[in-house]
Amino acid sequence: MESILTINSQKYQLERYPKTDDKTLKAWSSAELLVLEYAINKETKNIHLFNDRFGFWNCTLNTKKVTTVWSYASQKKAIKHNQILNNLKTDIVYKTPLDSLEKVELALIKIPKSLELFELFLQQVHKSSISSTEVVCGFMTKYFSSSFLKIASNYFEVLDQSKAWKKARLLVLKKPKNKIEYKDTLNKISYKGKEFCQYYGVFSSGKIDIGTQFFLQHIMVLPNEFKVLDLACGNGVIAYDLLNKYPKTEVTLIDDFNLAIASSKLNLKNTKATFICGNDLHDLEENYFDLVVSNPPFHFEYENNIEIALELFKGVIRVLNKNGRFVLVANKHLNYKTHLSILFSKVTVVKENVRFIIYECVC
Ligand SMILES: C[S@@+](CC[C@H](N)C(=O)[O-])C[C@H]1O[C@@H](n2cnc3c(N)ncnc32)[C@H](O)[C@@H]1O
Repeated sequence: MESILTINSQKYQLERYPKTDDKTLKAWSSAELLVLEYAINKETKNIHLFNDRFGFWNCTLNTKKVTTVWSYASQKKAIKHNQILNNLKTDIVYKTPLDSLEKVELALIKIPKSLELFELFLQQVHKSSISSTEVVCGFMTKYFSSSFLKIASNYFEVLDQSKAWKKARLLVLKKPKNKIEYKDTLNKISYKGKEFCQYYGVFSSGKIDIGTQFFLQHIMVLPNEFKVLDLACGNGVIAYDLLNKYPKTEVTLIDDFNLAIASSKLNLKNTKATFICGNDLHDLEENYFDLVVSNPPFHFEYENNIEIALELFKGVIRVLNKNGRFVLVANKHLNYKTHLSILFSKVTVVKENVRFIIYECVC
């Protein structure tokens, strides 16, 4: 993996976290470089950074005052890892995508795959904008969507697109619009008599995922199982369903995405559930859970990637008690059985249909 780059004669080493075996992947793209080039010499007191996934801007703009709007627990770790690697200061001002921001003069955004999340970012910027606010959005041209322009034009009068450079382009937004009716950035999903809420950007916008629905039809908590972990919980629908059917269970939910956890908290309010925004199981007690359930991630923005899921599976073994079960649903084509069989002593197929398969694994 290429990890060294030079900006204004300063050398940086930037690595991806979590690490990947895919040597073609880097911790930055030409979209981030293009944004940096536009922004680096601006006389701005405070730069707001959105979707700085691996800390490229946090490192290269380290001498400036920046506010980082973070979305993922793994993103925070990546940023810190790269700052330490480059002997840079790590005292970052963090905000979540739901926090109100101080006056935004300049915002840098790597446009995320979720257009809803892009809209949420722009809405937050707009709420704290001044007449001279500039928003510099970078994207790889292959991912361009006319929706970028449509969404941006809801909030800004001026939309300038740059020429392409190394397959990347900029969309620079100026002149925040005066009168705006802000959107409610919480989607509502009706499912089996319950209204689930989820913030923009959370997995499966607008409907409960069909793989999840299939899973919910077939998972059971056994009479001797009380401590349950919903791994990669998204909006918390799996934990909610289990808690509803088996009120004696004690559920813990974990997800890397802070808006997934914020959504789960809404959907499981007034319960004793525990919520963790995290990207691994290292901080959970060893041999604690009787049952781990999951619809694990296999996308990382535009990348299809099962490395993250495989790392999570290793973590499951540590947190399950010796008679514990791990039950998961997956798209059939991912062929997890090969990987699971290396880690677990017994892997059985609970149910399958044309697209999805449910496995039960025991240690
Ligand atoms: C396929 S979705 C499932 C969401 C939810 N369980 C459902 O069924 O609707 C996978 C989830 O994994 C989360 N995720 C991605 N990487 C993760 C990681 N390293 N640790 C925990 N969650 C992760 C994503 O944010 C996403 O919410």
